[in-house]
Amino acid sequence: MQRLSLPVPSAEELAHSQTLQNLIMHQIQASPTHSMSFYDYMNQALYAPQLGYYVAGKTCIGTQGDFITAPELSDLFSMGIAQHCLAFLHSEPNSTVLELGAGSGKMAAALLSYWESQDALPQHYYLLEPSPSLKAQQLATLQARLPHLMDRITWLERLPDQSFQGIILGNEVLDAMPIELIRYEQGQYQQVHVTEHNHQLAFTTRTAPQHLQALIADLSLPSIAGYTTELNPQLNAWVNTLGALLTKGFLLLIDYGYSQAEYYHPDRTQGTLQCFYRHHVHDNPLLYSGLQDITASVDFDALTQAAVKAGFHSTDWTSQAHFLIQNGLEQHFQQLVFSNPELSYSLAQQVRILTLPAEMGERFKVFRADKG
Ligand SMILES: C[S@@+](CC[C@H](N)C(=O)[O-])C[C@H]1O[C@@H](n2cnc3c(N)ncnc32)[C@H](O)[C@@H]1O
Repeated sequence: MQRLSLPVPSAEELAHSQTLQNLIMHQIQASPTHSMSFYDYMNQALYAPQLGYYVAGKTCIGTQGDFITAPELSDLFSMGIAQHCLAFLHSEPNSTVLELGAGSGKMAAALLSYWESQDALPQHYYLLEPSPSLKAQQLATLQARLPHLMDRITWLERLPDQSFQGIILGNEVLDAMPIELIRYEQGQYQQVHVTEHNHQLAFTTRTAPQHLQALIADLSLPSIAGYTTELNPQLNAWVNTLGALLTKGFLLLIDYGYSQAEYYHPDRTQGTLQCFYRHHVHDNPLLYSGLQDITASVDFDALTQAAVKAGFHSTDWTSQAHFLIQNGLEQHFQQLVFSNPELSYSLAQQVRILTLPAEMGERFKVFRADKG
């Protein structure tokens, strides 16, 4: 664990974190079990109104934030996504594109610019963003880069009521969803909870409730004392809702993760949970509540099963490197170098980060599921 080398938050940040921790401790004290599930803790740490990491207005993404994402790193990523969608948008000109969790809005801007250049603009571009501050950033980015397209762009408060034909996109959305933490103890998997001890947050475990036991029973998990891992209890319902929304089109989700066999490998004894604070990675989610990102990798087999259950007729996932190479990475690189030769070195660096196996190339996967 790299906790000792973490940067120290400012006094103001620490006060913010303490306010959120006090709220969480108050909820723990009010609970009959004197604890809350890790799922509820993570939900509060990331999304508590006004205080959670994604909603309090902190700069999360980019060099000034805590982590970098592919669309922030390079337009080459978004150009690959845009090219992949091109055939569908040409064949279905009345389509809607819905982007979930659009971060700073950089990907939306790059996608729309690319589609405009290819005469393939969707009729509507919807953004669904739970974070008010990121929503404000998205608006500023898109107004500055594409003022003439603003009449096609709409921010939604929740998923649309009406189904539509088109594309639902999300980069690094699944990894930002709260997860259940489970631990093998005394011959069975227990639900990890967060409790309070001497005015500090601490872990404890409790018997898993029925709904969680059912999800655990569907997985092939190792019986190793102390083995700790995660699962996303919202996955099936979320994918089902997205499936019901699409009459024709596809879902495209990009994230870091593994097959189920790799995810729940006996050697991965402490799961995939990671915390990001000012570009430092560590494994203590109870630290700096509200100031740091907390994420877990995606189980792409569970995602595939959820999509099949939700009525998507074909599903596929591949590595980010393979996807980008198949979707014009080399041509996009040449095009950007041609328009600005001074950028050739930094663009080459971006290609390396996007595609090298030890960087984003293999750890990140692109998942597609088709409907209609
Ligand atoms: C790790 S950030 C990624 C942001 C952006 N897509 C990028 O690649 O830079 C996760 C984003 O997902 C959003 N998010 C989390 N849960 C969501 C949900 N259920 N629906 C839509 N967005 C969600 C967060 O508010 C945040 O904007």
